[in-house]
Amino acid sequence: MYSRITGIGSFLPGEPVSNGDLARRGIETSDEWIVSRTGIRFRHLAENGENASDLALQASRRALAKAGLEASDIDLIIVATSTPDFIFPSTACLLQSKLGNQGATAFDVQAVCSGFVYGLTIAEKFIRSGSHRRALVVGAEVFSRILDWSDRGTCVLFGDGAGAVVLEASEKPGILATALHADGAHHGILSVPGSICGGQVTGDPFLRMDGQAVFKFAVRVLAEVANECCQAAGIAPSEIDWLIPHQANVRILEATAKRMKLPIDKVIVTVDRHGNTSAASVPLALDEAVRDGRIRAGQKVMLEGVGGGFTWGAVLLEI
Ligand code: ACO
Repeated sequence: MYSRITGIGSFLPGEPVSNGDLARRGIETSDEWIVSRTGIRFRHLAENGENASDLALQASRRALAKAGLEASDIDLIIVATSTPDFIFPSTACLLQSKLGNQGATAFDVQAVCSGFVYGLTIAEKFIRSGSHRRALVVGAEVFSRILDWSDRGTCVLFGDGAGAVVLEASEKPGILATALHADGAHHGILSVPGSICGGQVTGDPFLRMDGQAVFKFAVRVLAEVANECCQAAGIAPSEIDWLIPHQANVRILEATAKRMKLPIDKVIVTVDRHGNTSAASVPLALDEAVRDGRIRAGQKVMLEGVGGGFTWGAVLLEI
């Protein structure tokens, strides 16, 4: 038994917020600096009170509609998020309740910007084992909640959003190969090093990053893991129709394509309009490129994640 994506949906909250809008809100930055360093022009920011499960709900409803399924048809719900509504219960359980599903297996995955690729790989294993038949895999983030808006080196990079897929058991292969990795020795280069203790925040509750170390790490592992996944599926990287790496930065996407000897026009880019939406970035990009007709049935698509932990991974699939 294999597994196939049968529905994709995504959701971005509110209106696009431009680099100029951020500067007007008092952040000491410029459109020129942000675009030249990152390629980011816009991001979306959730309203106060609009949580990861709310964004996940909108994306999930769209994915279920595309798959022609009801929420009650789903027997596995995985939400990848680093910005959950609560410490517990999981955002997956909150989403389940909002969708009106009862009884499905539901849990969150915490692998930061690799979360969706981790979640999709886990769902694939559940389905291939025969224990589950129809999974909803969601990446949903409100990173705006963990940004230090006085740190211009990080706050301009991120945005909020959600993307979801329905993965169903199938006799025809959809997911062709997967690879997941982590190296916790690099936990310090990208983290939110705070926690709650006795009702108080201890440590630092904001996202902190060594940008240059992250850049070098991301470019290396994104190329390596894509090649590993191609090898596992027995195809050459040149046979990939579309590459969808985690959308952190246009320069990371360009450097990854170059290392893989792929033309940049085979790479789906949304970071210019979404910013970095962490676990939501890959399904948001997948949804956009399927909806606008670039990704077509029968094509091979490589999804890639890299993020805090450090974690990284790839999923090669046929649409
Ligand atoms: N606007 C204007 N100036 C800024 C801004 C800003 N938003 N942010 C930083 N600067 C200034 C700095 O203060 C510094 O000024 P100084 O020279 O007077 O001290 C100067 O710009 C250079 O700062 P650096 O941090 O050295 O800039 P760098 O060229 O390294 O670019 C960046 C920073 C864009 C973050 C880069 O390191 C990068 O792209 N890293 C990849 C990290 C990434 O994409 N992370 C996303 C999360 S990780 C993930 O998703 C896997």
